Amino acid sequence: MTTTAELSVSPAVRRSAELEQQLALDPGRFRVLTGDRPTGALHLGHYFGTLHNRVRLQDLGVDVFVLIADYQVLTDRDVAERLTEHVEGLLLDYLAIGIDPARTTVFNHSAVPALNQLLLPFLSLVSVAELGRNPTVKDEIAHSRQSAVSGLMYTYPVHQAADILFCKGNLVPVGQDQLPHLEITRTVARRFNERYGDVFPEPDALLSAAPLLLGTDATKMSKSRGNSIALGADADETARLIKGATTDADRHITYDPELRPGVSSLVLLAALCLGRDPHEVAEEIGGSGAAGLKRTVTEAVNAAMAPIRARRAEYAQDMGYVRDVLRAGNERANAVAEATLTEVREAMGMFS
Ligand code: TRP
Repeated sequence: MTTTAELSVSPAVRRSAELEQQLALDPGRFRVLTGDRPTGALHLGHYFGTLHNRVRLQDLGVDVFVLIADYQVLTDRDVAERLTEHVEGLLLDYLAIGIDPARTTVFNHSAVPALNQLLLPFLSLVSVAELGRNPTVKDEIAHSRQSAVSGLMYTYPVHQAADILFCKGNLVPVGQDQLPHLEITRTVARRFNERYGDVFPEPDALLSAAPLLLGTDATKMSKSRGNSIALGADADETARLIKGATTDADRHITYDPELRPGVSSLVLLAALCLGRDPHEVAEEIGGSGAAGLKRTVTEAVNAAMAPIRARRAEYAQDMGYVRDVLRAGNERANAVAEATLTEVREAMGMFS
């Protein structure tokens, strides 16, 4: 018998569960590509949503590529500001959480010319109408701080196909918002193979199982909204941010994400840090109210993040090493990208 819960599970979620089984059986079959825009500090939402999962995949023995998507910063703003600072911040975060540069390749877009060149043939494989229909792009246009929409805003999902396909990535851990981009990647791969012969895999999305954390103002957590706790924040700043978090008038703490988003997101954050069930955590706090809740959350976050923050501070003492990690990653990414571009040019019959 099929229950309502099973019916509401989307095909992408079901597919992700299958992929998890295959990952456990044969991690060597997979090459993962994922990435971040260097627009600000990574926060706890990133940690529990995606970063943690990257380390898990790396430790399973999957070949992981992590992209610092510097060109993609320019989709919704005119100039990429404080790029070096943001790139170095991402590198520190990656190293601090346990990304191991001996096993995981960290690189940035602009340092890998052959990756970017794939954009040209790939653009020829999609229609303008398809680009205009992308719901994530539409949403970003609605929230963009620019007065005019640039060509890059419509075409960056195709560039993202190049990010994934240059290394023949076949598994992309993403959130729901990235699914339309992954569909474009699959379309590009399929059409390229149909027109020119088999070169690319059709990559799968791997949806994260982690539930959604809200920001301290009980709206979407975001690098740019000032409502997030950065991985690199210290214990005092963490306490201050949690102290200012939005709760509600009901003194008795419960876990009810729909009716009590602010309170429940704090409960969830504590539960994730403690590795416990949020309902249980809420029950324990019970009548101690918002003050008790915030005390529990602050202690849980600071305890869980202490080792990560200590490692981050250590790496920050040795920025020469940190930059070398990116240099070495770029070298490997360049070798992989050049090999793929050669295959692409041969498949297309380009003169060389
Ligand atoms: N679009 C992603 C984000 O905003 C970053 C990104 C760029 C990415 N290229 C990618 C993610 C390729 C997965 C695969 O977070």
